[in-house]
Amino acid sequence: MSNRASMIVDKDFTIGQVDDRIYGSFIEHLGRAVYGGIYEPGHPTADGNGFRLDVLEAVRQLNVPIIRYPGGNFVSGYNWEDGVGPREERKRKLELAWWTTETNAIGTNEFADWAKLAGSEVMMAVNLGTRGVDAARNLVEYCNHPSGSYWSDLRVSHGYKEPYAFKTWCLGNEMDGPWQIGAKTAVEYGRLANETAKAMRWVDPGLELVACGSSGSSMNTFAEWEATVLDLCYDNVDFLSLHTYYNNNKEDTASFLASSLDMDYFIDSVAAICDYIQAKKKSKKKIYLSMDEWNVWKTQGTSRAEQRWQVGPPEFEDVYNLEDALVVGCCLISLLKHADRVKMACLAQLVNVIAPISTENGGPLWLQTTYFPYLHASLYGRGTVLHPMISSPKYDAKDFTDVPYLEAVSVYNEELQEVTVFAVNRHLTEGLDLTVDLRSFGKISVLEHLVLENEDLKAANTKDNPHNVRPHSRGNAIQDNGQIRALLAKASWNVIRLKIS
Ligand code: AHR
Repeated sequence: MSNRASMIVDKDFTIGQVDDRIYGSFIEHLGRAVYGGIYEPGHPTADGNGFRLDVLEAVRQLNVPIIRYPGGNFVSGYNWEDGVGPREERKRKLELAWWTTETNAIGTNEFADWAKLAGSEVMMAVNLGTRGVDAARNLVEYCNHPSGSYWSDLRVSHGYKEPYAFKTWCLGNEMDGPWQIGAKTAVEYGRLANETAKAMRWVDPGLELVACGSSGSSMNTFAEWEATVLDLCYDNVDFLSLHTYYNNNKEDTASFLASSLDMDYFIDSVAAICDYIQAKKKSKKKIYLSMDEWNVWKTQGTSRAEQRWQVGPPEFEDVYNLEDALVVGCCLISLLKHADRVKMACLAQLVNVIAPISTENGGPLWLQTTYFPYLHASLYGRGTVLHPMISSPKYDAKDFTDVPYLEAVSVYNEELQEVTVFAVNRHLTEGLDLTVDLRSFGKISVLEHLVLENEDLKAANTKDNPHNVRPHSRGNAIQDNGQIRALLAKASWNVIRLKIS
């Protein structure tokens, strides 16, 4: 027995063009993301700069357009000047966000070198916790001004003649969170963000600036924070950030798999607040959304006291299973469904810390289950998102009602003349008989049907069993009288790639 679901996609019913930056990620000076992750001198694969080439290769495969750096909570206590100039002169400092020791062996220039090798842009973040306008505008001058001024000449003297032209900058991080070094009220932050934005843009008018939204929709100040902050800095910022992490903490898989409904709701709510302020200000300008931290996060709350003052201790090294990959897949679909509003997003994070890529110091690298939906969406989810007209049976779970078993969206790549359908079957015990009606596309054929599935929902990839959960291309999608038919396996992630001829 299987359930039936259908989907109609029409090339004229578009949601919007995908901004490739929704496939961004994040590297913070936290745990073994930097030290032991991207950088490990002495590792057998390390290049002359100490960058692990196995990690670089896994990142390159993902085709990550933009990577947020250097934090996260870390940035709120960071003096960027500590991380530039001759390495032997760099100061070791106590790092108060995660209670570790920061050696400053990696700083802005090294990270920019690494990002270039990875084929990614850098999304910079400035410290609005312990610092403010002055440090931020100096950093913009250091990074983006060609030469002929103190900070730009300093960069040149450090061996980096060409300015970086970093375009996208975050104005602090999670400034509403009591855990943040230098946390602020909405009014304090909104004013500071506005003044910092002005000065940064006076140094480089080409910047795109992201103001901090709430650390999550469960914050007591959520919504009020967004409205107050935007009211104070609307004219000088372009994006508002959203952060969200999902956790199967109740061991309730049916609810957990519905997490992306929360993401949909979160995005819609923040968009509504932005539009409210736009209306209030009678402004022609629209604020776009940057979901610059999102993921499944299971080890939240790990005691940082245990790691006190170590260098690059293992932190938040979540082991992701099939369920987690399905939630990541559903969240990617949610981001695509909001392509008209969400223009940037960062899977938090990229290596070792709540990450799709895991490494062992001195040892191998392996890919977590969540790597694969991220890879597929990044490779095949570029183009125009089409409205998914879906009809699907639904279920009720503890935390959500009316959850469609089918979560799906399609993306039309006009240049390649391809349509890709991304689909998750949330049903835990039954297949889903899917029909996709592509009436406006004419002749179509199936290029490939990729599937991520496993009999065991808790199956994961580990160092000793790195190939346990891998996608295969034996999906059963067929072209049938102008429609696509596929039986989606229970609890599976599916990528149906179609060619238009
Ligand atoms: O991504 C891990 C942490 O989660 C970030 O440092 C912080 O911004 C968020 O709370």
